[in-house]
Amino acid sequence: MSTTAVGYLGGVASPESLASQVGISVLKLGGNAVDAAVAIGFALAVTFPSAGNIGGGGFLLYRHPSGHNVAIDFREMAPGLSTSNMYLDGNGNVLLGDGGSVDGYRACGVPGSVAGFEEAWRRYGSGRISWGQLVDPAVQLASSGFPMPNSLRKSLSLSAERIERDATFQDVFLDKTPLGWLPKKHGTTIRQPKLAETLTRIRDRGATDFYAGVTARLLASDIQQNGGVLSTTDLAAYRAIRRKPLVGRFMHHDVLTMPPPSSGGIALLQMLGMLQACDPLPDAYSPTYIHIVAQAMRRAFRDRSEYLGDADFVDVPVRSLLDGSYIAKLKRGLSAGMAVRTDDLPPARNLKDESEQTTHFTVIDRFGGVVSTTYTLNGSYGAAVISKSTGIILNNEMDDFTAKVGVPNQFGLIQSAKNAIQPRKRPLSSMTPTIVVDNEGQIRIATGSPGGPTIINSVLHTILQSVYFDKGVHESVAAPRFHHQWKPEVLQLERSLIGVRPQLASLGYETSLRTLGDVHAGSWNRRSGVIMSSDPRGTGEALAE
Ligand code: GLY
Repeated sequence: MSTTAVGYLGGVASPESLASQVGISVLKLGGNAVDAAVAIGFALAVTFPSAGNIGGGGFLLYRHPSGHNVAIDFREMAPGLSTSNMYLDGNGNVLLGDGGSVDGYRACGVPGSVAGFEEAWRRYGSGRISWGQLVDPAVQLASSGFPMPNSLRKSLSLSAERIERDATFQDVFLDKTPLGWLPKKHGTTIRQPKLAETLTRIRDRGATDFYAGVTARLLASDIQQNGGVLSTTDLAAYRAIRRKPLVGRFMHHDVLTMPPPSSGGIALLQMLGMLQACDPLPDAYSPTYIHIVAQAMRRAFRDRSEYLGDADFVDVPVRSLLDGSYIAKLKRGLSAGMAVRTDDLPPARNLKDESEQTTHFTVIDRFGGVVSTTYTLNGSYGAAVISKSTGIILNNEMDDFTAKVGVPNQFGLIQSAKNAIQPRKRPLSSMTPTIVVDNEGQIRIATGSPGGPTIINSVLHTILQSVYFDKGVHESVAAPRFHHQWKPEVLQLERSLIGVRPQLASLGYETSLRTLGDVHAGSWNRRSGVIMSSDPRGTGEALAE
């Protein structure tokens, strides 16, 4: 399996090999980056069930070869019957497990992926590849099956306690053994017959089936029979939204990234602004460099927690947060060894060492058209339940809202009332699909990652490596990462940075070790073509023609 690929006719980088093959075959048929991205999105819903989905949502950023760019927001939406305190018990404590914001049918927001993919294909597809051609590979993968890979076994094992209570998870992915439910053996053919039926309807009838047809009725009925609140009216009301990407400048490059309801674009541009103002930066990964970048992270995440939410519902001061004089103010003191505070805060519920709970893929076509897509079920395997009549794994995106101000969500994020639950509102996200373009209109790097809040910093690292330190795409993707999110007061380091732990401790940092992100990125240049890279941390594959 190849984590890097070069070519002239386009390329793909995704977290799973079969999906990458689907994407490259669409490019070979003459499809553009949008066509290939849609086909990959559907294929991952079958072959990468921890995060690939039709039951979740995400963001697709597209830059047309002409330079026109657009962001498609297909983030999940709170059902009409949801309320700001729906996850609080009688004592005002946040409910997480069955019936709460993390596990089970009540955790599910209205899925957006199918609407997002159809919107992208209709408006920006090449016109040479039919909708049916893009969905059909996923239909075949779900009905004929694919051999269980070790990576899927590992991810199922990590979520075993959550998923093994669900009958469809048992049928499709697990075997009953004397030791309990275990993932099916490596190489076993994984067939998903109900999902295949659903995908067939979507292939033949389009997104209408998902939002107002047979699938809508089956899905809403399964959810309501199991205590959820999502209705056919919610599905019928769902729309993918075209938004104007945020555009910032960093070291003579345009940085195109995701506006709200992503927090990622604003935080990324704030950090790049602060760090550009620190030019020249210390040597990469020296203790001072880590310190400066971590302080920029702390400031951006502090603003995230205070000011951000769905801008269609609450006032988000995007312009002020990205204003040059405000960023100059944020930058002041960045390098002066600002004391690290340890706030008296509840610990994060569950800072995982896994980054599979969202996924990213990048496609570049032969004309330099680029798609950077991040989509998610939120937690690994979402709400850990499968709608039995449709085979769809349900998201638990409602946990991305502020269930209660001051109480961390599953990623340890503290959020404000701006991100409170309201019917039809979209929860704040950290997904940060990003495309960096040089002054000649060539793609320096298109990038993105899974990993909850760590997404934003994984994207920051790849851009700093590529643009500031002038590294190639694969070196930028493979380079070490670290993460600070303001609260909790912990600097998370990848193991390769263990050597600087003592110096960081003397600067006042509490540190922990973990792997961060699973970046799939690419670059494009008129003369040398595409270079694609899949993160060596993950199990993905980069392909190019
Ligand atoms: N569900 C993770 C995120 O959107 O940030």
